[in-house]
Amino acid sequence: MEIIIQETPALGSIIAARIIAKLVRTRPDCVLGLATGSTPIATYRELVRLHREESLDFSKVTTFNLDEYVGLPPSHPQSYHAFMDEHLFGHINIARENIHIPDGMAADIPAECARYEAAIVAAGGIDLQLLGIGTDGHIGFNEPTSSLASRTRIKTLTEQTRADNARFFEGDLGKVPFHCITMGVGTIMDCRQVLMLAFGANKATALADAVEGPITAMNPASVLQMHPVAKCIIDEPAAAKLQRTAYYRWVYANKPEWQQIH
Ligand code: GLP
Repeated sequence: MEIIIQETPALGSIIAARIIAKLVRTRPDCVLGLATGSTPIATYRELVRLHREESLDFSKVTTFNLDEYVGLPPSHPQSYHAFMDEHLFGHINIARENIHIPDGMAADIPAECARYEAAIVAAGGIDLQLLGIGTDGHIGFNEPTSSLASRTRIKTLTEQTRADNARFFEGDLGKVPFHCITMGVGTIMDCRQVLMLAFGANKATALADAVEGPITAMNPASVLQMHPVAKCIIDEPAAAKLQRTAYYRWVYANKPEWQQIH
């Protein structure tokens, strides 16, 4: 895993947006895997700016989101459908038919999960998957003990995740759904490139375990150690519990010109 430590989330988000923008410019019909949560918001803001001010063109891009709550319709303000419209899709020239988010209202959830997996395959697979990390090490909504080979399926959220996300539901834990549909860990591992973001001191333990700990289903993000092209962009507070920060900083500062992120 390549670890890029930046002073602030704003600086890290600009690098993340540049990596995504470079892919979109090189392969205008690329397939992006997208994430929700507070972490990627600044990256989306920068992508919107690049679209408006530097003509970044999303007209041929296809997207697949990681997850959605079960039981929230797209019109619900806390649904991930609404989140994506608010922070990205409503501000760029993406074709509506190219947007894919699991349907948390599906009557037949296993069928919806199978349909989602098939749609990813039909699109040619995901070129780049953007990820956040939960305070318990989850990616997507793959909570600790998720199978590291799992595919898109229903999951039950942990109390910790529901408590973390209650802030989006007026602080009311009772309003946070118990279930979600999420891409599996195996689905995420199949994508060609992974870009994980982690900002803030509350992510430091999960992040250190994911990057420098053993690969374990107790921290699903740790499986990214097995991904051939995984980058992790973090801020200083999120880096606080890593052992090898001096090495990560040296690597980033001394990249050969052709590897630098402009
Ligand atoms: C959420 C999402 C994840 C996200 C994580 C962290 O519940 N399902 O995709 O990465 O938890 O969220 P945040 O970025 O708000 O800290």
